[in-house]
Amino acid sequence: MASSNYEPKNPVLRAFNQQLPILSLVHGSLGAGYRAPKNLNYFWNFGSLAGVCLVVQILTGIILAMHYTPHTTLAFSSVEHIMRDVNYGWLLRYVHANGASMFFVVVYVHIFRGLYYGSYRSPRETLWFLGIIIYLLMMATGFMGYVLPWGQMSFWGATVITNLFSAFPVVGESIVQLLWGGFAVDNPTLNRFFSLHYLLPFVIAGVVVLHIWALHIPGSNNPLGIDVKGKQDTVPFYPYYISKDALGLGVFLLVFAFFVFFAPNFLGHPDNYIPANPMVTPTHIVPEWYYLPFYAILRAIPDKLMGVIAMFASILILFAMPWLDGSSARSSKFRPLYRFFLFLFLAVALFLGYCGSKSPDDVLHLAGLDIPFLLLSRIASFYYFAFFLLIVPIVSRREVPLPLPKSINDYVLGNKAKSAS
Ligand code: HEM
Repeated sequence: MASSNYEPKNPVLRAFNQQLPILSLVHGSLGAGYRAPKNLNYFWNFGSLAGVCLVVQILTGIILAMHYTPHTTLAFSSVEHIMRDVNYGWLLRYVHANGASMFFVVVYVHIFRGLYYGSYRSPRETLWFLGIIIYLLMMATGFMGYVLPWGQMSFWGATVITNLFSAFPVVGESIVQLLWGGFAVDNPTLNRFFSLHYLLPFVIAGVVVLHIWALHIPGSNNPLGIDVKGKQDTVPFYPYYISKDALGLGVFLLVFAFFVFFAPNFLGHPDNYIPANPMVTPTHIVPEWYYLPFYAILRAIPDKLMGVIAMFASILILFAMPWLDGSSARSSKFRPLYRFFLFLFLAVALFLGYCGSKSPDDVLHLAGLDIPFLLLSRIASFYYFAFFLLIVPIVSRREVPLPLPKSINDYVLGNKAKSAS
């Protein structure tokens, strides 16, 4: 967020901009007045895509809230009413429900991009911390949103997850009762979750403004992870990255539309089409797919309190990345060994997600062996933490990075010469 000394040509706009320099702000933040490294690849589309997802969620959510009733006796049928009676209600709901999944996909890619190219490193630590805060807020918002339709998974998911807080000594029970607004997940719980689910996206929007402000102070990192040395290393945001973002958005919307129109319930759980029933526990309670790796970590540890601590730690540990990584190079493009362990980490995180979707007593049939998923979750959780606490600190300090290019411009022109010959 930076204002430029841009002056609109139109006299009315110029006068307006002199009194409220909002056009200069846009020009300096998203227009030709903001310059970004010329070598950004499509991974850099995911920030703007996350912004689009947030706007889509807020807009569809506001309209859904006009027709939804946050009461245990009416919530489920008000969602059915939205699906059947409200004009385009089915579309709004499917866009909102699948939009949440799309939002998490986009943000996971966005976080992985940060890890891969070392975007959490100095001078972008604050930007990274704000990102993690956004992610935590997103998790809370998604969780509370899933409770609102008041289906079986809503109710039992809420019961399992809120109960986790009871593991904390002394204050645990009080926290759970505060979350519930009583002694079980019930109408007061639904009401406060609805209220917070409406509020938090606006808090997220506020933190996103800070996130982008913190981005525009040092400017974007880039795939080489080296600093911008001068104007020749950059191009103006408009038209170059506006058009690149627009192309990415088009492709993203095609994928989004595929889910909404052809597989709208693929990412949801069928049990959530059964009204909540406190007397009937589903055989297998699972959270939404985007929480599954953390759910697997929670269940991998036999002690409830330690499981809860490990689950929270698995996300909070991201805050420590700027200190854990001591390499002289940012981008893993020049750190093959680190890159190998990072890809392994990605594979393990995805596998943990798979373990989270399984029942605790399920087994993996592999080469004539029956390996319990619980054991596999434990091994995968071990690697998850070992990556942060051992591999990153050691490998980043031991591995000698490959020679870094002199400048972004040099590298880009060198590449061009290669492809032309
Ligand atoms: C609502 C969610 C989010 C929105 C709207 C958002 C938006 C953006 C935008 C527009 C950019 C600039 C474009 C780009 O580099 O892709 C950006 C950069 C960045 N974001 Fe986010 N972000 C979100 C969540 C996160 C999260 C969860 C993290 C990390 C935990 C994060 C970390 C970063 C970092 C490190 C950069 C700088 C990347 C670089 O310059 O290499 N963001 N974000």
